[in-house]
Amino acid sequence: MADDRIITALDVHSLEDMKKLVETLGDSVSFYKVGMELFYSAGPDAVRYLKDQGKHVFLDLKVHDIPNTVGQSIRALTRLGADLMTLHGTGGRAMMEAAAEAVRDEAAKLNIERPRLLAVTVLTSIDEDAWKEIGGKYSIAESVKNLAKLAKEAGIDGTVSSPYEAKEIREMNGPDFLIVTPGIRPTFAVANDQKRFTTPSQALRDGASHLVIGRPITKAADPKEAAEKILAEIQGV
Ligand code: C5P
Repeated sequence: MADDRIITALDVHSLEDMKKLVETLGDSVSFYKVGMELFYSAGPDAVRYLKDQGKHVFLDLKVHDIPNTVGQSIRALTRLGADLMTLHGTGGRAMMEAAAEAVRDEAAKLNIERPRLLAVTVLTSIDEDAWKEIGGKYSIAESVKNLAKLAKEAGIDGTVSSPYEAKEIREMNGPDFLIVTPGIRPTFAVANDQKRFTTPSQALRDGASHLVIGRPITKAADPKEAAEKILAEIQGV
């Protein structure tokens, strides 16, 4: 049956399309990612529906603003009951601390389990030239490590990282730190536009705690069968 380490990305823009997918996947998937496309189209109902279905929700809105605004936004999102949420590590220490405090405080008030916060380090669409162009002083690899360390210090629970960064972050931030990696292609799937990707079992062996997988499941001729094949691939890993 389902494995909480696999998060299926619901990259659709209507509640109807989302529900169709969730119904099709049934009990083969227990954890879903709601990203900007779906949230900006369908709003909080997308999260509420998934929670009503007993699913875990990764709300990937990549929040980034001044600390006060981020704190208040994270409070509002905490009330939706998502399990994982994202913010940009480049928002800095004070912004991450404000988010970490807001999520703890709001969850305690509501007496619910605290959603975990993940910092995005450097977007994988940024290459060294683009990083320099926006003022990056160190290499991307150095900057990713620095941001992962800063995130942990600021009370953030994990990072969203490329599978290629997972090993180092795991060694640096210890066994309890969450490492969520997209860019995963099961052995049976095509790469689509992912250039740097790895298999589910390799990413887990490299230290990822959760894998975000989209098209290999959602665009498969038989999505449930694809999800089940992935579950079989990671059995025992
Ligand atoms: O379809 P695919 O498996 O490529 O989807 C992966 C999901 O992870 C998508 O929602 C995509 O936006 C997200 N993502 C990614 N690569 C990154 C960051 C996020 O594919 N570097």
